[in-house]
Amino acid sequence: MNIKGRHFLTLKDYRADEITGILAYASQLKRTFKQGQSSTLMEGKMMAMIFQKPSLRTRVSFETGMFQLGGSARYWGPSDIGLGARESVEDIAKVLSGQVDVIRARVFGHKIVEELAEFSSVPVINGLSDYAHPCQILADFQTIQESGKELEGLELTYIGGGNNVTSSLIFGGLILGMHVFTASPRGFQVGEGVQDWAKQVSSRTGGSLTVTESVEDAAQGADVLYTDVWASMGQESESEARKVAFRGYTIDQQVLDLAKDEAIVLHCLPAHYGEEITKEVVDSPNSRVFEQAENRLHAQKGLVALLAGNES
Ligand code: CP
Ligand code: NVA
Repeated sequence: MNIKGRHFLTLKDYRADEITGILAYASQLKRTFKQGQSSTLMEGKMMAMIFQKPSLRTRVSFETGMFQLGGSARYWGPSDIGLGARESVEDIAKVLSGQVDVIRARVFGHKIVEELAEFSSVPVINGLSDYAHPCQILADFQTIQESGKELEGLELTYIGGGNNVTSSLIFGGLILGMHVFTASPRGFQVGEGVQDWAKQVSSRTGGSLTVTESVEDAAQGADVLYTDVWASMGQESESEARKVAFRGYTIDQQVLDLAKDEAIVLHCLPAHYGEEITKEVVDSPNSRVFEQAENRLHAQKGLVALLAGNES
């Protein structure tokens, strides 16, 4: 498994053995880090982190991860670089890749990360676009594995509207042979392009995607319950309308009771308690939400070291 020098824009671009290879490497790095061993995998290397949107987990985990691997990461926010406004995305990619070793970008339009990748000579990592959030899903899958569950054949239920996290769960999940269920209000289902892609891939991998409006049908017997905010970054003006449209699409104790007894609950965070999930569920023994948040650090260390590390 060699992914050195590649971009990481969506999980669609990665094979099952590559995804599981990243997860295995991430778990190994987590173990050795917890045993107190230091690492030089990114020694002498700099990551440029450019953001068009806010972040806690993504920013902190990449910054800390690079530090723990012996390298550095620097943050440049919306007003510093002016992606596509002060300067073209093409020129920014060429300039940055002449000076840093990895570019990690959080953007609105997915085309921006695609254009960065097209013109960058160093790996570009998508740290969330309107279309996909692949780094999140690596941490999610690592957390599922740590709960003792096999990824292949797993029944993962996502409750909420189709968004970047939903699409990425479907991409990664179906490639690994999971059965993904989504329960979304009418008009907020995951996009048709993603559903068509899922149909094509499922025949090859044995995974499946079931799209429904029924929370009960989707949650019944699930191994994993997953949710995300009703209005994503960039959709703030729709927040109030979505609160009405999404009423009933909340993971509460009643919904959790429909899943398997040993089901785990995940949320990429930030959470809006009382909307997509209750605090009671996040604080319940089934919740792995904060382990999942910690794993952003470990999963991405594995990813970065494999894409751009000194030994990969
Ligand atoms: N889950 C996640 O990506 O969190 P941030 O938006 O805080 O980075
Ligand atoms: N769907 C959310 C994920 C946040 C990590 C958003 O894009 O805002």
